[in-house]
Amino acid sequence: MKTVKLAVIPGDGIGHEVVPGALRILERLAEIDGGLKFEFEHFDYGCDYYLQHGDMMAPDGIERLSQSDAVFLGAVGDAGKVPDHISLWGLLIKIRREFQQEINVRPAKVFEGIGSPLANPKDFDLMVVRENSEGEYSSVGGRMFHEEHEIAIQSSVFSKRATSQAMHYAFDLAASRRKMVTSATKSNGIYHAMPFWDDVFKEISEGYADISTTSEHIDALSASFVTRPERYDVVVASNLFGDILTDIGAAIMGSIGIAPSANLNLNGRYPSMFEPVHGSAPDIVGKGLANPVGQIWTAKMLLDHFGYTELGSMLLRAIEDTFREGIMTSDIGGSSSTDEVTSSILDKLQ
Ligand code: NAD
Ligand code: IPM
Ligand code: MN
Repeated sequence: MKTVKLAVIPGDGIGHEVVPGALRILERLAEIDGGLKFEFEHFDYGCDYYLQHGDMMAPDGIERLSQSDAVFLGAVGDAGKVPDHISLWGLLIKIRREFQQEINVRPAKVFEGIGSPLANPKDFDLMVVRENSEGEYSSVGGRMFHEEHEIAIQSSVFSKRATSQAMHYAFDLAASRRKMVTSATKSNGIYHAMPFWDDVFKEISEGYADISTTSEHIDALSASFVTRPERYDVVVASNLFGDILTDIGAAIMGSIGIAPSANLNLNGRYPSMFEPVHGSAPDIVGKGLANPVGQIWTAKMLLDHFGYTELGSMLLRAIEDTFREGIMTSDIGGSSSTDEVTSSILDKLQ
């Protein structure tokens, strides 16, 4: 029997509404497998924890989470209680950095039968590989002076190591898919970092003769994600560009409520973390409206990560069949509740 120890952090807001169902699904799939067992350890880290303890996690939080095989997270953020930059840098971004989760993989694909803002979505199926540890997300800089003289300085950090690692990951992924990599750049406007990004992309691409490449400016690429998403296979992007592109990827599927992600530690020293792309959705919390599919598809990425790809495929089929039957939450045109969608997916697993 193989045991996978999961550190579970529902976090804030709808994280508490979508995580329990995804755990039930993981347990069901483990039963079906027969040789797999999940052990869940729950952590109450989040904004309420902060209000009680003055920090987003316990002083030994990172140490305790590091005992797990993976972290399964809902969402973090409750700006009415804790400023977002404090809560996110104290939990989500802290885990990504402490555990060297330098790659963030985020798929987007067409699902039949769900509402999409695209009138006629073509059959797109793409993966964004987002550099997850540096770039525009840096704490280098500061605020100085006062009142109308106040200025804020924020430096981006692009290392050759992390940039080329993200690109290698993207090329290797493309090799197992349609063999195309698009680089999200902005070397016309960002004077140092993006010409550097382009140089690294060119250098790495020379090692992959059978992969075709394009480089597109992030503004045009964002528009093209909406108008012609079927053109893309693997897209590699810096931290901020990847963040924005993957919300667009989620939107063209139908809703940010269905998009999953994997924050991968590649050196094997620390756990990886699996979380949906969406946040804590304070506007719909407590109403049964939260789409559970982002969290559930995230569970599929976790299964794939541990090599249980057949269970992962079974889960994706159950999601697709549920949508085909019209069982979906209102963000994608249905009228089912969070629990009804989860139950339908569970029922299809056997
Ligand atoms: P959000 O993703 O929480 O919500 C954006 C919109 O999408 C809202 O209208 C929301 O109702 C809707 N939505 C999100 N998830 C949904 C779901 N599962 N089903 C149906 N609708 C859904 O983004 P935001 O409003 O920018 O952020 C809210 C809070 O979450 C902030 O504190 C933010 O910092 C945080 N956040 C956290 C994460 C994370 O933990 N990974 C990601 C994004 C935002
Ligand atoms: C995401 C989120 C986070 C990010 C925020 C909440 C810090 O938007 O995971 O996409 O920007 O990485
Ligand atoms: Mn985001």
